[in-house]
Amino acid sequence: MQRLKRLWPGIVYALFLIALVTPGVSAENKPPDTLVLKVEGAKLPPVRFSHTTHTRDAGRDCVVCHHKDKDPKDPGKCETCHMLKEVKEGAPPLRDAFHGKCQACHKEVSAKGISAPTKCNDCHKK
Ligand code: HEC
Ligand code: HEC
Ligand code: HEC
Ligand code: HEC
Repeated sequence: MQRLKRLWPGIVYALFLIALVTPGVSAENKPPDTLVLKVEGAKLPPVRFSHTTHTRDAGRDCVVCHHKDKDPKDPGKCETCHMLKEVKEGAPPLRDAFHGKCQACHKEVSAKGISAPTKCNDCHKK
């Protein structure tokens, strides 16, 4: 018992040090800045996608694209749910999922006079 009493301050101090060096659990998984999107077997040039461009506008929340993830701030790949060819649980094939998200919004913002790529080779750029 005496021994434990003498050890106690040391234990408290050690715990304090551990708490100090353990990085805080970050609330948000920082999205990769630039991605190159390419579905398996793609024939067209891959599509570059910038999280920086797409998230600097506060209105564009993670969930707009990461729409079914349990935590949209810590998402998985689209292809975890969108299969290459077939529809699974109502989820359209991967290519249609990408076109559905990307083109739909670009058409919408273009109609409001904001320039966002809508032509095939503006996205599928060599
Ligand atoms: C807003 C961006 C965007 C526009 C505009 C766009 N695409 Fe795509 N497309 C994508 C993304 C993202 C993918 C998935 C990644 C990839 O290219 O493999 C994709 C995938 C594809 C694929 C399957 C992969 C491949 O290369 O075979 C085809 C085919 C395709 N698009 C054709 C077109 C055609 C044709 C047009 C014009 C009518 C077009 N896309 C316009 C973003 C776009
Ligand atoms: C405009 C659409 C869009 C928005 C908004 C967006 N993302 Fe993404 N994000 C994507 C796409 C597309 C991918 C590539 C998915 C794939 O490869 O299947 C991706 C991939 C990721 C990945 C890598 C996932 C993996 O396992 O490879 C992370 C992490 C991520 N996003 C985090 C975020 C966070 C955090 C936010 C909000 C601050 C955010 N994203 C907002 C479209 C978006
Ligand atoms: C956890 C599973 C899951 C992930 C991950 C996922 N989706 Fe989906 N998605 C679905 C399901 C299920 C549906 C069909 C049911 C619905 O629309 O509610 C769907 C429907 C869609 C649709 C058609 C309906 C709509 O909302 O316009 C698009 C487009 C789409 N997803 C794009 C994407 C993109 C792009 C990604 C990656 C950034 C992604 N999805 C990631 C499950 C997922
Ligand atoms: C909710 C709306 C929205 C969605 C979804 C979206 N975009 Fe965009 N995108 C924009 C807007 C708005 C711009 C105009 C540029 C800006 O905001 O500065 C843009 C610009 C771009 C540009 C040109 C500027 C740059 O960053 O190089 C590319 C390429 C692009 N988007 C690709 C994509 C792809 C690929 C997807 C799907 C994975 C996608 N976008 C989904 C709204 C969207």
